[in-house]
Amino acid sequence: MTATDPVAPLLAPAAAYPDPAEAPGLRWGILAAGGIAHRFATEIPRHTASTIAAVGSRSLDRARAFAREMDVARAYGSYEELVADPGLDAIYIASPHSEHRDHALLALQAGKPVLVEKAFARSAAEAREVFAAAQSRGLFAMEAMWSRFLPHYRSVVAAVRGGLLGEIVAINAQHGQHLVFGPEHRLWNPRLAGGALLDLAVYPLSFAHALLGKPDEIHAFGSLTDRGVDSAETIVLRHGPVTLTVAQASMLTGMANAATISGTDGRIDIERTFYNPSDAVLTLHDGRTERLAGRHAGGFQYEAAEVARRIAAGETQSPLMTWQDTMEVMEIMDEVRRRLGVAFPGE
Ligand SMILES: NC(=O)c1ccc[n+]([C@@H]2O[C@H](COP(=O)([O-])OP(=O)(O)OC[C@H]3O[C@@H](n4cnc5c(N)ncnc54)[C@H](OP(=O)(O)O)[C@@H]3O)[C@@H](O)[C@H]2O)c1
Repeated sequence: MTATDPVAPLLAPAAAYPDPAEAPGLRWGILAAGGIAHRFATEIPRHTASTIAAVGSRSLDRARAFAREMDVARAYGSYEELVADPGLDAIYIASPHSEHRDHALLALQAGKPVLVEKAFARSAAEAREVFAAAQSRGLFAMEAMWSRFLPHYRSVVAAVRGGLLGEIVAINAQHGQHLVFGPEHRLWNPRLAGGALLDLAVYPLSFAHALLGKPDEIHAFGSLTDRGVDSAETIVLRHGPVTLTVAQASMLTGMANAATISGTDGRIDIERTFYNPSDAVLTLHDGRTERLAGRHAGGFQYEAAEVARRIAAGETQSPLMTWQDTMEVMEIMDEVRRRLGVAFPGE
């Protein structure tokens, strides 16, 4: 290196990661025409070579309305008809958590690869059933934990795993949103596996897991609604002798929704909102500092492009979000639920 060469950044910039627009195209089918399905149908055609070729709803009217609004070619009034469509390469499962296992199995049994919204299922046992079905058919399956595919997130995870911060001492991350709705809303309804854990805490937990893997110890404190779903929790994970994570979630209030990783050599702060495309600031104890620019349009294009690349390569899972990763996060959440006393009807 000469004196005029720029100093290499300590945190890899977004350009270090593959451009989603260059991934192969898939013809997606969307299963369930709800809130998040609209976002997927907006971002995927805009930022990737893929198309939304069909949508399936429990109601033909809702499917047709979604198709009209989102410019989708085919609309089906049942999920069975959707997954039977021979013109689809993959199915995006966008129903409530309580239904993910059955809907993923429906698609896999019809020979279709699946991208399943987070939380992947209600429990590790349900997740295991889905992965077993994918494995026996040689089909791709992945949890749509979209943050793990974002450039700023990958860059921070790679730097921390590579030892940039020394030994990790503490991780602090939150996900709180003011999501106070009626008792039948899916977040407040035990029948639909509501609660802050599976919807919100899954982000800080999956973040800690991406950085440190499976914890050695899990503690949790939380509050439950009168129908027995968790409205808020603070979860403490211990990895090894010195590393403690505090993950907080709430559906009663908004929180900073930032994340800090503190190590023996320095700290990384991911700004609000850490699980969305965000900036991160590195502060090392030796005085070096760096700002990583991580904001960009959309977000779901990175996970969708990863699915397209893996399917094109004939693979059944992604190394960025393996079946084991999902299983280990689900196992953490099973233990948190056990400690909080949350059980869902029908699981
Ligand atoms: N990645 C993210 O940023 C993100 C954000 C929000 C939510 N999510 C995840 O996406 C999933 C769906 O959340 P959402 O907010 O889109 O929920 P939503 O707006 O309530 O939509 C869910 C859809 O699922 C279908 N469904 C199938 N069985 C159902 C049942 N028994 N009860 C109610 N709906 C049923 C319905 O569609 P049809 O009637 O058309 O069949 C409904 O519109 C959840 O797993 C959630 O965690 C992810």
